[in-house]
Amino acid sequence: MNKKVEFVEVVVLILFILSILISGWAGWELYLQYKSSQQGRLDFFVIFLFTVSIAISNLMEVRLSEHSGFAIDTFFIIATLLNLPFPYSSLCVFIGETLTEFFKKKALIRQVFNVSQFTLNATLVSLFVSQFIKPGKFNLTFRNLSLFIAAAFFFTSVNSILHSIVVSLSTKKRLVDAWLLLAPYPINFYPLVAMGIIGILFAYFASIKSYYGAILSAFPVYLLYLLFKRTAILEETLSGTLKAMTTALEAKDPYTADHSKRVAEYSRKIAEKLGLPLTDIKRIEQAALLHDLGKIGTPEEVLYKPGKLGYFEWKLISRHPEEGASILASIPLLKDIEDYVLNHHERANGSGYPNRKKAEEIPLGAQIIAIADAYDAMRSPRPYRAPFSPETAIRELTQSKAYQFNSEILSKLKEVIVENPHLEERPLPVCVLPKMDKEQKQTQEELNA
Ligand SMILES: [Fe+2]
Repeated sequence: MNKKVEFVEVVVLILFILSILISGWAGWELYLQYKSSQQGRLDFFVIFLFTVSIAISNLMEVRLSEHSGFAIDTFFIIATLLNLPFPYSSLCVFIGETLTEFFKKKALIRQVFNVSQFTLNATLVSLFVSQFIKPGKFNLTFRNLSLFIAAAFFFTSVNSILHSIVVSLSTKKRLVDAWLLLAPYPINFYPLVAMGIIGILFAYFASIKSYYGAILSAFPVYLLYLLFKRTAILEETLSGTLKAMTTALEAKDPYTADHSKRVAEYSRKIAEKLGLPLTDIKRIEQAALLHDLGKIGTPEEVLYKPGKLGYFEWKLISRHPEEGASILASIPLLKDIEDYVLNHHERANGSGYPNRKKAEEIPLGAQIIAIADAYDAMRSPRPYRAPFSPETAIRELTQSKAYQFNSEILSKLKEVIVENPHLEERPLPVCVLPKMDKEQKQTQEELNA
């Protein structure tokens, strides 16, 4: 076990002790309330209602990837914080999460961390909202609705930051990469809004003590849970389809497969640096992985030919963007990446193929893939030449009139190269063939990209 993981364990243990102390204090206060006179006593049914709602909604977690999951308990936690004073709100979260978290198939440290961070995060938000609203007085005014949204944002942000720190420490990834790993892709914005509305209604009905109203308003959550689960299954099916296609491509041409994986990683990192939305980043990465899918239909003797290609051979291989796009067009889930694959050999000055498009007509995703593709091709050894150094490849991409790439994308590529030395490792050349003339080399370079 390495040192950083041990450090993570100590941090999690401290968080857990803190959450037990707060919950224990709340429990003691509750006991004193129970023993005291009836006047001003807390409504124990409300505590029960919120604890059960947190527990059930925590069970409705949709796993999105190894590290990322989406639980719908956030809005029920916020409803609790708006209805119960501190520290009782923290106790509800602690019991609700503890009752269910340990039934999930996760490592113990992750379960302990989840319970602790939810309790402490809820405590923070509870103290925050109590500055603006008296617990149990949540009515549907603009001010209160804004407070609900602010509380949900605050809670989700702290949750996301704490999770990213722990994943970063335990996986040794950069904080921003850990954050991207945890992003709840492919959950969309509108179902989240629906979930927020349910949370607001739940908080309101509980506040006016209409418990039937609260329970009835919470029921649609199950339908949303089914929707999220279906979205996650569709995304998993899509990943499986991509994997199957990549494997088929690898069987046809091992070079193309390795090259495609690197192009996918370069493209994803460039897209991240450009600050594109998560959905676009995912689609660009998927398109980059499959950009040469159309080569699956290219005859081997053309694909592996080391020398200059004849006119008809060139025609055959230059059909691969269209063929790749037409394969993707037949799969509805992959339809939106078709455009990136179709345009990955277009060039800003209109010298590319298949449609000789100009810069403004080429989708940004295709431009990113084109740069990553050209760079990786130059960095890889060929039978007729040694690999270009990163500096030479960048110089070529920047100065060559054949490319005219977008300068912003190029500058992001330079950053990616510096930050990811593992991407610069390449297999050694197998053989070196007799020298080609300048024209032969240029044609071969363009075809291999
Ligand atoms: Fe290509």
